[in-house]
Amino acid sequence: MRADSALHTCVVGLQWGDEGKGKIVDTLVPEFDVVVRYSGGANAGHTVVVGEHTFALHQLPSGILHEHVTCMITCGAVLDPAVLLGEIESLRARGVEIAPQRLRISDRAQLVFPYHRKQDVLAERAALPGGKLGTTARGVGPCYADKVSRRWGIRVCELYNPENFRKRVETIVAHKNAYLAALYDVRETLDPTAIADEYLAFAEQMRPFVCDTTTELAERMAAGKRVLFEGAQGCLLDIDHGTYPFVTSASCGVGGVVSGAGVPPMSIGRVLGVIKAYTTRVGEGPLPTELRDATGDRLREAGGEYGTTTGRPRRCGWFDCVAARYAATFTGPTELALMHLDTLTGFDPIPVCIAYKLDGQVVNTLPADTYKLEKAECIYENLPGWSEDISGCRRFEDLPEPARRYVQFIEEQLAAPVTMIGVGPEREQIIRVREASEVA
Ligand code: GDP
Ligand code: IMO
Ligand code: MG
Repeated sequence: MRADSALHTCVVGLQWGDEGKGKIVDTLVPEFDVVVRYSGGANAGHTVVVGEHTFALHQLPSGILHEHVTCMITCGAVLDPAVLLGEIESLRARGVEIAPQRLRISDRAQLVFPYHRKQDVLAERAALPGGKLGTTARGVGPCYADKVSRRWGIRVCELYNPENFRKRVETIVAHKNAYLAALYDVRETLDPTAIADEYLAFAEQMRPFVCDTTTELAERMAAGKRVLFEGAQGCLLDIDHGTYPFVTSASCGVGGVVSGAGVPPMSIGRVLGVIKAYTTRVGEGPLPTELRDATGDRLREAGGEYGTTTGRPRRCGWFDCVAARYAATFTGPTELALMHLDTLTGFDPIPVCIAYKLDGQVVNTLPADTYKLEKAECIYENLPGWSEDISGCRRFEDLPEPARRYVQFIEEQLAAPVTMIGVGPEREQIIRVREASEVA
C-alpha cells in the first residue's frame, strides 16, 4: 500500500498549547476526509466557534463537527470513556449526531481509570520531589506512566474480554489501593467490582466505534483519502523535547504521529505549525517572556486567555522566538498559522524575544536544564504596533503595515512561511495569506 504524502497534513502547536489548533483544524477540515487525534487525552481543550455556538472538544477530534469527515482516536492517545461518552452526549444534545462510521476508536488505546485521576490530583497536592506540575488533573500522566510500566495499563480491546478484564481490574485496583494508602495515606479504597461494572457498561456504548484504527487508516490512505492529523498540547510540552519536567506525558510533535497513529514517516508531507502571536502557558514551568504585570493582564483579557479544560487563567507573555524556533527545529513546519494577531491590536511597541541571556552568555536556543531556563533574561526587539481593528481583515494586504511587518518578522525568525493568520475566534476570521501549494 502506498501513501501519497501530498495528501496528508499534520497540525501541531509550536508553543505550550492552546495556540488555536482547534480553529485551524476546523478551517482546514473541508479539504480532508479523515481527522486523527494521535496523542494526549482529555487534557486537551480545542475550541471551535461556529456562529453563536462555542464547542470545546477534549477527547474528540475537532473534525467531529463536520459530517463528511471520519474522526479517529488512535493508539497513541489515551481514552477516558466517561469523558468521551459525555462529549458525544453533549454534542447530540446540540444537534451533532455521531454515527459509528464517523468515529473510529483504537482497540489498542490505553484507558484512563478513576484511580489515574485520583493519582493525578494527589500528586499535585502532595509536595513530593518533583513538586507541583500544574496538570489538568485528567489522569493523563498516570495513565501514560502505567502504559509504559506495562504492568498496570489496560487497553480498550480488553473491555471485550470481560472475564479477563474483571481479573485484571481486580489485581490492578488492589495495587492502586496499596499505593495510594502508602504514598498519600488514602484510607477509602477503590472498589474493583464497581469500576469493572462501570467500564463494561461503557464498553457496550463504545462498541460500534471500536476498531483497529491502524489498519482502517492505512486502507483509507491507500484509497486516496486525505488525512489531517490533529496535534494536542504543544511541542514545548513534549515529553522528550519540552521543558521537562513541566511537560505532558506524550509526544506532541510530528514524531508522535508516526508512533501514535501508526503511519509511515514519509506519509506526512505537510506540517502546519500553529503559533500564537504572543505566548501563553497554563500550569507550572518556565515562561521566559511572562508578563507578571498589568500588561500581562491586559493581554489575557484581550485574548480571552482562560483554560478551555480547567478554566485557569493562562499566563501571558510576548512572543518567544527562541522557544518557538526550538519547537520548529524538531518539528520541521512547512508552513505556519499565526493566531490571535487581532489580540495584539493597541499594544505599541510590541516586544519580541529574540535571544536569552543566561549566565552572562547570549543563548539562541532552549537550554536543556529547565531550572536554568527559569533564570533566563530575555533580549527583546521592539516592533511597531498598530491601533486599527483588524478583526474584519480577510486579505494580507488589508492589514496595517506594522501588522504585516510583524508577520514577516516571525516568518524570518522561524524560517517558515505564514499561510494563515487568525484575526478572531470565529470560523471566518482568518486570512489565507497563500495556499499551501504555493509554499510546497
Ligand atoms: P487549542 O488548544 O490550540 O485548540 O486552543 P484553545 O481552543 O485551547 O485556545 C485558543 C483560544 O483562542 C480559543 O478560545 C479560540 O476560540 C481562540 N482563538 C483561536 N484563534 C483566534 C484568533 O485568531 N483570535 C482570537 N481573538 N481568538 C482566537
Ligand atoms: P491543548 O491541546 C495547554 C499542560 C498542563 C500542565 C502540563 C501537564 O488544549 O493545547 P497534564 O494534564 O497533561 O499532565 O498537564 O501540560 N497542558 C496543556 N496546556 N494546552 C493543552 O492542551 C494542555 N495539555 C496539557 O497545564 O502544565
Ligand atoms: Mg487548548
